[in-house]
Amino acid sequence: EAETRARVVMAKMTLDEKIGQVSMAHFFRFLEGGRSGPVAASAGSSFAQLLPGAILNGGGDTPQPNKPLGWADTLRSLEELGRQHLPGGVPAVFGTDSVHGVGNVAGATLYPHNLGLGAAFDPALTREIALATAQDMRAMNMDWDFSPVADLGRDPRWGRFYETFGESPWLVADQITADVLGLQAGGVAATLKHFVGYGSPSLGRDRADAEISLRALHELYLPPFKAGIRAGAMAVMANSGSVNGLPVHASRTLLTDVLRGELGFGGLVVSDWNDIDRLITVYKTHADLVRAAADSVNAGIDLYMVPYDVEKYAAALKEAVQGQLITQARLDEAALRMLTFKAELNLMDARPAGSGVLADHRALAKRAAAATLTLLENDSSALPLTRGRVLVTGPAMDSAAIQLGGWSVNWQGVGRGNVTYVPKVSTLAAALKASAPAGVSVSALPDGKRGALLKAAANADKIVLALGEAPAAESQANNPNLALPDSQIQLLRDVLGTGKPVVLVLVAGRPILLPEDLRNRLAALVMAYLPGSEGGAALADALYGRAGFAGRLPFTWPGSLGEAGLSADRPPEGAGEAPLPLYPLGFGLDYTRFATSAVTASTVPGGVSVSVTLKNVGEKTGTGTFIVRTSLPPTGNLEAVKRPVGVVRAVLKPGESRTLSLTVPAERLEAFTGDVFGPVTGSVLQGEYRFEVDGKQAALTF
Ligand code: IFM
Repeated sequence: EAETRARVVMAKMTLDEKIGQVSMAHFFRFLEGGRSGPVAASAGSSFAQLLPGAILNGGGDTPQPNKPLGWADTLRSLEELGRQHLPGGVPAVFGTDSVHGVGNVAGATLYPHNLGLGAAFDPALTREIALATAQDMRAMNMDWDFSPVADLGRDPRWGRFYETFGESPWLVADQITADVLGLQAGGVAATLKHFVGYGSPSLGRDRADAEISLRALHELYLPPFKAGIRAGAMAVMANSGSVNGLPVHASRTLLTDVLRGELGFGGLVVSDWNDIDRLITVYKTHADLVRAAADSVNAGIDLYMVPYDVEKYAAALKEAVQGQLITQARLDEAALRMLTFKAELNLMDARPAGSGVLADHRALAKRAAAATLTLLENDSSALPLTRGRVLVTGPAMDSAAIQLGGWSVNWQGVGRGNVTYVPKVSTLAAALKASAPAGVSVSALPDGKRGALLKAAANADKIVLALGEAPAAESQANNPNLALPDSQIQLLRDVLGTGKPVVLVLVAGRPILLPEDLRNRLAALVMAYLPGSEGGAALADALYGRAGFAGRLPFTWPGSLGEAGLSADRPPEGAGEAPLPLYPLGFGLDYTRFATSAVTASTVPGGVSVSVTLKNVGEKTGTGTFIVRTSLPPTGNLEAVKRPVGVVRAVLKPGESRTLSLTVPAERLEAFTGDVFGPVTGSVLQGEYRFEVDGKQAALTF
């Protein structure tokens, strides 16, 4: 029905109007002063001139942040102006990056970034957050989220590692399904990004070429996209980098043959920021915009995210169509997809304005942060903190910027760029102080004063040191050494030098490499990821033992820089010895322990059912999370010895046990075999598969 309506509208459109439909303009074009002001008096004529099919405010930047209705009013006005000035009365659709909540509105709640949600291994929680995000977006009159990131976190040197749900394709796929379902149930369009291979640039450098074999493409990189498409994702954003030497924005193989042919995607393909121009200016694969536009649109880009010069793109596209470099049919197909997308979002009908008021999601944000926290070391039970004098210090103890990470208020996050307000957050220092149990006294000392610190440390029984990474997004977030700044390492050295037990809390979007001599002296190590608005409150509960540590690593933590990129599904090496990670995928301690029974596996329609009984054999309630892995029979190809295929998880009281079953869909057992240069075909193999949970196996022969 949406497509039928779109066809009716499109039938009346001119060439220029169709070209407008497939362009996305930056919303600064419609604001007074060109930036964050109110809607300009000339906005109507700008619409009539640019005819934009879509408008974006990527990353953030909030108009009139201190006016509660600033955003909602601005977007509503733009929607109405679009109805008056755009063809068929169909307004432009507004898209933005609400990748961990609606981060650019005063009063916003920001959830943990995806890496933390990956550690929670709880797709139902991800779905709840996505739904809450979508509801807030709708309240602000936003229709389209450039989320979720379906890339894999395979190389922590890559700056956007924190935006992924982790390293393991099928575990990420389950999160992507949940995210898409949640966002779209809330009435906004989800975008699977960045198709495909964006997370594996060489050397971890953002947008460097990714060398990806056909086997890896199918077994590693496609599953999250496959899952998101199956969940009904309305849009896919192209990888702004290149794969095997070809910029993805010009790759018909990836954007059409694989995405549409193999994965069956029928929705809208949007470019990333300015990426058709970058074929000329950065990659130098194309000589001019006419040819670049032609190759890109023919490859499969429907909508161009044109931040700078919509007019120039429109002229180039027109020339390409008139010169028959792009067929009229291809342009029509792209414009129809854009119009169908809008019909599906109800933009073709008058609709009530969003309330402009965000719901109070603090409790959800706290529950989410609590689910992510991962305890990596706890020597001689340094945690929980139950008595004595606690000193809390370090730059991450009271920093909204560090805690929220990138894509908060604007791309680079609070504290970088043009940030007009700082969202309210619960910080570790404040929460430890405010909620100390009887018998614990807390003092907090901002870092920077070494003498005062050493004195305060001398009077403390334990030190909680919070260190972390500065917020960042896109290219400037590369961290090739996986290191913290020298000043933070010096601080760690200083506090360890006091001889007091040190609990280190890392607030970071990737595994951090600490000098070994320092790491070995820590009493406890907590990975907090980028925990969002309620990170401090959640951390205080866990450090005081009022809650457990439910998170498990969604990635492999390397022991050294040379091991960056190590993953649980790394195939065997020719020399025979694979490096052991510092902490493996799925690792995490808690205040309690779990025992598992023997594993059983049986075929069921569509896959294999794996069962195991978990028992809480400790003294505290806790979350038992175990990864289900499978080993394949010999394939003739290099394969993971143990491929993660799912997760079993339960919250259990002391002494409680529960039998958990997981159906592993048959496609997770497929091997993609073929010659190095392809083609490859996927199939479930004949022979013995073994299914493993917590080191216990069951075999099944196909
Ligand atoms: O959605 C983002 C993308 O992830 C990176 N480049 C900019 C886009 C819009 O902000």
